[in-house]
Amino acid sequence: MWKLTLTSFAAGIALICMGASRASAGDVPAGQKIFTENKCTQCHSIDSLKIAKVKSADDEEVKDENGKKLEPPDLSGIGKDHDAAWFTKWLKKEQEVDGHKHKKKFKGSEDELKTLTEWIVSDLKYNVPKKK
Ligand code: HEC
Repeated sequence: MWKLTLTSFAAGIALICMGASRASAGDVPAGQKIFTENKCTQCHSIDSLKIAKVKSADDEEVKDENGKKLEPPDLSGIGKDHDAAWFTKWLKKEQEVDGHKHKKKFKGSEDELKTLTEWIVSDLKYNVPKKK
């Protein structure tokens, strides 16, 4: 009798857990969607959110104006380095770092840029994923 109760209890827990993980998988923040849809992942990974860099066959090396090779950083934790206004300028190529601007100008709308930069300063503030 006890065994039976325990078994159904365990099965119930397992079902609840499966449901929960399914729900969180579909729950991608809008900023993250903009990030992947704008192909930021061609150059950047975000380990803390398990977002991998997508390499394509026509991948070129990224170089600055003087031909120096640039390493696009993994963006885990980058959100603590600057505020949303800074990231907005960076992604519009109005902001320099080490004497050069970003490789890629953001092609989306102002609204999307706002969502994207707000996501960067909140969800990328930590080297580990933010607890929901
Ligand atoms: C063609 C490659 C490339 C693509 C595509 C790209 N980046 Fe970058 N990104 C770089 C490189 C290289 C750096 C390192 C800074 C530098 O040396 O220019 C960088 C740096 C950054 C930084 C860090 C800035 C700092 O110093 O704090 C952020 C944030 C960033 N990129 C966001 C994005 C976002 C968002 C997208 C998509 C809209 C994107 N990147 C697409 C190459 C790329």
